[in-house]
Amino acid sequence: MAIPCGAGFLRAGGRRHGSTAGLVIADPTLRSPDIDHHDHHRLREQGHVLLSGPFGTAAAVAMLRRIGRLVPQHGGGLAHRVVATSGFERRRYSKSTNAIGVHTEAPGWDPPPRYLALYCHTQAGCGGGHTDLVDGRAFLATLPPETVEKMRSQDVAFPAGRGGFLRRPLLVSADDGEDILRFSYNLLTYGDTEPCLGAEPSLEGSFGGGLAVLAEEFRVRHRTRVLIPEGGLLVWDNWRMLHARLAYRDARRRLTRYWLAK
Ligand SMILES: [Fe+2]
Repeated sequence: MAIPCGAGFLRAGGRRHGSTAGLVIADPTLRSPDIDHHDHHRLREQGHVLLSGPFGTAAAVAMLRRIGRLVPQHGGGLAHRVVATSGFERRRYSKSTNAIGVHTEAPGWDPPPRYLALYCHTQAGCGGGHTDLVDGRAFLATLPPETVEKMRSQDVAFPAGRGGFLRRPLLVSADDGEDILRFSYNLLTYGDTEPCLGAEPSLEGSFGGGLAVLAEEFRVRHRTRVLIPEGGLLVWDNWRMLHARLAYRDARRRLTRYWLAK
């Protein structure tokens, strides 16, 4: 059910940043609906891979199953429709048309999904709706060691569903020694992962609020901006990469989101 937002100042839709470096546009080239070792290599080395298609959802799911195991999302389904839905117009949420700042997916899950995938049925034709990807490892490398240490030692209360919270540091080591980055610009700035447009940034000046600003600044300089082609699939490492969404106006935009465990 949609959570109503109180009346407030309606911000202009989304952040717009200067460079279009890294922009990937629709590629109508037919490709075999398979994922090969080059795709696996790209996913491992750069943290993301765009399988441009076009192919259908059945082929997309078969390809994803060669990367990991599909896991249930909020509500229990393996597939989540990402489409502008009535009731969410004033929230920074996947089912709105609003911009969403840098975050990792489901930071309140333990563990969060290892991989995240978006399949595009219909792309926005308005010039918006892009997905920005940011390498979390590269971002961490820009921070002072004492800041990274604080990210490893200081708990954050991440919403975990049904009113509960998961208290974990922003950065933890998984059992296999890999780092898991949990991050939410919205949570660290507004205290809410899905704040209303016009909400007051109540955590500005805090440790987390400062990190959120730095992450957005890093995004401006180092993002990979992707407009997923129709029939294409974008997959990324959700323990490593931050992602964000640009606002859009074309409500025909329709994607399906998948979560994968390793
Ligand atoms: Fe997301």
